[in-house]
Amino acid sequence: MAYTSSTMGVPVAVEMPRHIAVIMDGNGRWATQRRLPRVAGHTKGVEAVRAMVEACARRNISYLTLFAFSSENWRRPTDEISFLMRLFVSVLEREIGKMHSNGIRLRVIGDLTKFEPRIQELVRGAEAKTANNQRMTLTIAANYGGRWDLTQAAYKLAEQAVAEKGMQSIGEADFSKYLAMAYAPEPDLFIRTGGEQRLSNFLLWQCAYTELYFTDIFWPDFDASALDLALDWYCQRERRFGRISAQLESEEKQISC
Ligand code: IPE
Ligand code: IPE
Ligand code: MG
Repeated sequence: MAYTSSTMGVPVAVEMPRHIAVIMDGNGRWATQRRLPRVAGHTKGVEAVRAMVEACARRNISYLTLFAFSSENWRRPTDEISFLMRLFVSVLEREIGKMHSNGIRLRVIGDLTKFEPRIQELVRGAEAKTANNQRMTLTIAANYGGRWDLTQAAYKLAEQAVAEKGMQSIGEADFSKYLAMAYAPEPDLFIRTGGEQRLSNFLLWQCAYTELYFTDIFWPDFDASALDLALDWYCQRERRFGRISAQLESEEKQISC
C-alpha cells in the first residue's frame, strides 16, 4: 500500500484502523509489583507481543508497529540492555518460522548499525524470508527514535533529492519517502500501555493525525479484550483532519461502527 499523507489529502474513513502503533510500556512495573526482577516483565511482555500479533492479524489489521527499544533506552542499566538484546535474538530465532507460515511480513525500523552483527544478520534474514507475505506487516522499532528518523530522512533528502531536483521543487512527499516506515500508511491508532501519556520520541512525523489511546494496563497484561476496548474507543472518534463535523456528515464519511 502506498504511503498516504494525512496532510496532503484527507484519508478515506474506515471502521477499523489499517495501522496500529504501540508503545509497549510497563514491563518493569508489572514485574516490580510482583516482587520480580524488572527483566521478568520483559519476558512476560513477549507473550503479550505474540497475542497482539495474532489478535491484530485475526482482526484484519494490515500494519502493526511495536516499539521495542528506543534510541534513549541505551541509558538503562547495562544488564537490562543485555537482557533485552538476548531476548530480541531468541524471539527472532524462535518466532520467525511461525510468523512466516501465518503470512506475516516482518520489518525492523531503527538504527541497526548499533546492534551486534548477529542481530543485524537475523533481522535482515527474517525480513528477506517474510518479504512477500501479505496478511499483515509487523514492524518492530528497535533503536528507533523519531528524531533519528527525521534526521536520517533529512540527510538523504539533502544528499539525493536536493541534488537531483533542486531545492525549489522539494515538497512533503519528497521528504516522507525517506522516512523509515515509508512503506506503510500513517498509524490510525496509537496505543500506549502503562499509564504514561507521552510519545517518548516514537513516530513523530507519522502520528500527525493519529488517534492517541492511553491505558493504565501494563504491557504484559494487555490482551485481545484490552485491544478490543481500544478499537471500540477508536470507532467513536470523529476524524476531522482539519474540517468541521458538518462537512463529514454531508459527505457521509463519518466512521460508522
Ligand atoms: C517497556 O517497559 C519496555 C521497554 C522499554 C523495553 P519498561 O521497561 O519501560 O517498563 P516500566 O515503564 O519501567 O514499567
Ligand atoms: C518507550 O518506553 C520505549 C519503549 C516502549 C520501547 P520508555 O519506558 O522507555 O519511555 P519513558 O522513558 O518512560 O518516556
Ligand atoms: Mg517505561
